[in-house]
Amino acid sequence: MVLLRSAPPLADRVRQAFSRRARHYNAAASLQRTVAWRLAHHCRNLPLPTGPMADLGAGSGLLSNALEQQQPGLELLRLDACAALLEEGARRRTEASAAATPAAAPQLLWDLNDGLPDGLDSAALLVSSFALHWLEDPCASLDQWCAALAPGGWLGLAVPTAGSFPQWRQAAAAAGVPCTALSLPEGDRLQAVAAQRLELHLATTLRFSQRGHSGRALLRPMGAIGAGSTAAAPLGVGAWRRLEAHWPHDSDGHRRLSWDVLLLLGHQPQRS
Ligand SMILES: C[S@@+](CC[C@H](N)C(=O)[O-])C[C@H]1O[C@@H](n2cnc3c(N)ncnc32)[C@H](O)[C@@H]1O
Repeated sequence: MVLLRSAPPLADRVRQAFSRRARHYNAAASLQRTVAWRLAHHCRNLPLPTGPMADLGAGSGLLSNALEQQQPGLELLRLDACAALLEEGARRRTEASAAATPAAAPQLLWDLNDGLPDGLDSAALLVSSFALHWLEDPCASLDQWCAALAPGGWLGLAVPTAGSFPQWRQAAAAAGVPCTALSLPEGDRLQAVAAQRLELHLATTLRFSQRGHSGRALLRPMGAIGAGSTAAAPLGVGAWRRLEAHWPHDSDGHRRLSWDVLLLLGHQPQRS
């Protein structure tokens, strides 16, 4: 009898992939660092009510660190399902503590597909960057996050959306091979979910483009930070070759890969 072992569920593979690359995350996550700094800038100096504050899917803490640097005195709970990334963040903070950042930050190992922990009820501030799209139902999770805010509490969110990777999708269609990109949530749907619960102060989609000598080179940083997991079966060598041949290029031969990142900032109305 042959026993066929099925692949672990996507959520487990996501966690394992981030764990394997945890040590390399900060060095390779340049887009995530840029977006974290930009989102933190929007979230600094908000008129916050009292209540818990957390970075959801914090990883190594790029967003919470950026916000705490831009607004000294704030302290956010780092919440993530990947112990290795939380530990990597704690290790880096300890190393940097001589250079002014406090060493210990609160952190919690938690799977956001199970909702939010009770300790975040009536939150004053929930922020999240590049994490919501990894969850099983991003719209439902976003709705839970908005509902958990205290009256006057704020949400700051950055998430890549479905308009990302147009070059990859175009190349796959032209080459007749599947596009194996992770499926990303529709920005309009996320915005509509947030608008039902929050007064929105910012809702904008930023396009970030990276240039490289090949499609594969452009996709490599995703693997380098452990963000290469998808539900799709991997392409074979021949399919990759066809994909590369059809990847649109600039006049100087360079390829591009673009991300659409939705930035949302809003607050829960005060109860009258
Ligand atoms: C691309 S990283 C972003 C990390 C960080 N927010 C940043 O901007 O650098 C995605 C993060 O989402 C976390 N994540 C994915 N699925 C999760 C889940 N179900 N529950 C909690 N965290 C999750 C991963 O472990 C990882 O730390």
